[in-house]
Amino acid sequence: MLSIKNVSKHFGGLKALKEVSFNIEDGRIHGIIGPNGSGKTTMFNCITGLLEVTMGNIYLDDTEITGKPAHEISNLGIRRTFQQGKLVPSMTVVENVMSGIFDFSSGDVIDTFFRRPFSKSKNEDQLRAQALEMLGLLGLAESADRWASDLVWAERQFVQIARAVVSRPKILLLDEPASGMGPIETQEVGELIKKIKAMGITPVVVSHDMKMLMNVAEMVTVLNFGDMIFEGTPSEVQSDPKVLEAYLGAE
Ligand SMILES: Nc1ncnc2c1ncn2[C@@H]1O[C@H](COP(=O)(O)OP(=O)(O)O)[C@@H](O)[C@H]1O
Ligand SMILES: [Mg+2]
Repeated sequence: MLSIKNVSKHFGGLKALKEVSFNIEDGRIHGIIGPNGSGKTTMFNCITGLLEVTMGNIYLDDTEITGKPAHEISNLGIRRTFQQGKLVPSMTVVENVMSGIFDFSSGDVIDTFFRRPFSKSKNEDQLRAQALEMLGLLGLAESADRWASDLVWAERQFVQIARAVVSRPKILLLDEPASGMGPIETQEVGELIKKIKAMGITPVVVSHDMKMLMNVAEMVTVLNFGDMIFEGTPSEVQSDPKVLEAYLGAE
């Protein structure tokens, strides 16, 4: 479904990604692990068009998406969350999720969404219904009318995920979705990712936390200093000497 072919990304002399290739298959939870600084977020930035690749090609099914603008890639069905994902604090949870139905990187959409008075927007009922439906599917319906500013960190991350999937993308890229969370919340994130897969959306989960990914991912790609050093099932990854060395070396 998504093919990464020999992708390199250099920042001046720093090689953040070195000829990395892997495939994301439809309907399978794919994990990307690696110590901090190994190029995981850079890979997401290249896939989503926030960064231009230095070399290499990225395909979504048969369409080459390398070099396309971010909003076009988003409209083709690749959505993401951010490590430090922020919500709009002055909007409610459901309004934040509604904002994900649009592609916010295109200016006229912002115009449409924020046209005042907001409450008179023609499609609002329909957008709200769609957002509420997604919150319900993810088990977050009770929070719909809370202010985003009143949510704790983990709740914000859940709402960020809801905002990214409300448009029913083909692929959802999650950047460190459990960062800063305790074990119970981390488990909840795992459940959420499984629900998303059950909706027919393919999740790709970046994490430096091996344990978290081992419980969720069905296939794992391991990055270390920009190199792809291993790919396999969680149990294969856990027993690979190169992977263990990368992790021991990093800690
Ligand atoms: N915009 C940028 N400009 C310069 N260097 C960057 C930029 N983004 C990331 N890097 C560097 O690229 C490397 C990989 O970073 P990153 O992809 O954020 O790692 P990870 O997400 O695996 O922790 C790091 O050395 C980081 O400092
Ligand atoms: Mg990162």
